[in-house]
Amino acid sequence: MGMTLPDPGLGSPTEAPTTPRGDDRRQAGGDPDRWLLWTRWLGWATLVANTVLVVTGGAVRLTGSGLGCPTWPRCTEDSFTPHGAYDVHSIIEFGNRTLTFVLVAIAFATFFAALGTRRSRLIRYAVVLALGIPLQAVIGGITVLTDLNPWVVSLHLLLSLAIISLSVVFLRRIDQPDPAAARGPVAGLAWATMLSGWVVLYIGTVVTGSGPHAGDADSPRNGLDPLQVSQLHADAVFLFIGLTIGLLFAVRAVALPAESTRAVSWLLGVQVSQSGIGFVQYFTDLPVVLVGFHLLGAALIAAVLTWAVLAVYLPKAPAPAPAPAG
Ligand code: HEM
Repeated sequence: MGMTLPDPGLGSPTEAPTTPRGDDRRQAGGDPDRWLLWTRWLGWATLVANTVLVVTGGAVRLTGSGLGCPTWPRCTEDSFTPHGAYDVHSIIEFGNRTLTFVLVAIAFATFFAALGTRRSRLIRYAVVLALGIPLQAVIGGITVLTDLNPWVVSLHLLLSLAIISLSVVFLRRIDQPDPAAARGPVAGLAWATMLSGWVVLYIGTVVTGSGPHAGDADSPRNGLDPLQVSQLHADAVFLFIGLTIGLLFAVRAVALPAESTRAVSWLLGVQVSQSGIGFVQYFTDLPVVLVGFHLLGAALIAAVLTWAVLAVYLPKAPAPAPAPAG
């Protein structure tokens, strides 16, 4: 009865790494395969931890705990932790801040594992992923200090989604040190799909900024009409889905590897589910549980969209045919 999970084309953490090429020729000494295995585990940990952070950040907003710690970097004027008169909102907001330390630990471990592989590209990606954490901490701080200004909240979420996307690039690079880029209209269509996806994600955050879930009862809203921005968001979604369907036909027509078709099909599946949640939450006055799932869906879209575009733009070489017996 077991369900077979799809291969996301990022390699499973336990899978033995493929022999690297390109910048890996510089490897000398050590056991790079062992480091690659660690790097893959940690790349997955980065992806999962940032997705969890998006959801816990959403929980802060949706429980009205955005100013549970009213200042930054301290939680209160005289303490880094909530105590005394502070309530459940402080604990939720403080819990979300504490997750930063988990991310820092994973980022350090990822950087050292990447160093062990001696692959300069992986090291560079690990550094950029790690730098995203202090940047997010500062934007999180500005979010609190501006009383949850919706444009800053939007930037805060978009940066997390960008880090999720980069984690997918990082994971894929482990198996593809020196991929050959596809050219032509199908690659162009993949990039157009990517662009439309990010426009949808951005407008989604603007819809939130116009809506009721500000994170604190006294926080400002962006002043736009929620109805009109939701309409624009849904229109952009139709374009995004249309381009994805076009891409699916295109990858089949040019006979790209099966992984490319699988990735684009997954993107379409996540889009349809996410849109279903979007419509239901819209017509049921935004219940917090559905809004939380929509946020998780946004993180999944950022990850699967990156996978799909990479699977088309930098397709994996087909596995070599088995040598004839005898
Ligand atoms: C691929 C499809 C979709 C994606 C990737 C997406 C993405 C997003 C994102 C990133 C947000 C901001 C979340 C936040 O700031 O917490 C959002 C909010 C929202 N989306 Fe979507 N969305 C999609 C489809 C839809 C559809 C079809 C609707 C239908 C109208 C919809 C309605 C909404 C609403 C009402 C909000 C505001 C929620 C709130 O006030 O907290 N979404 N969306």
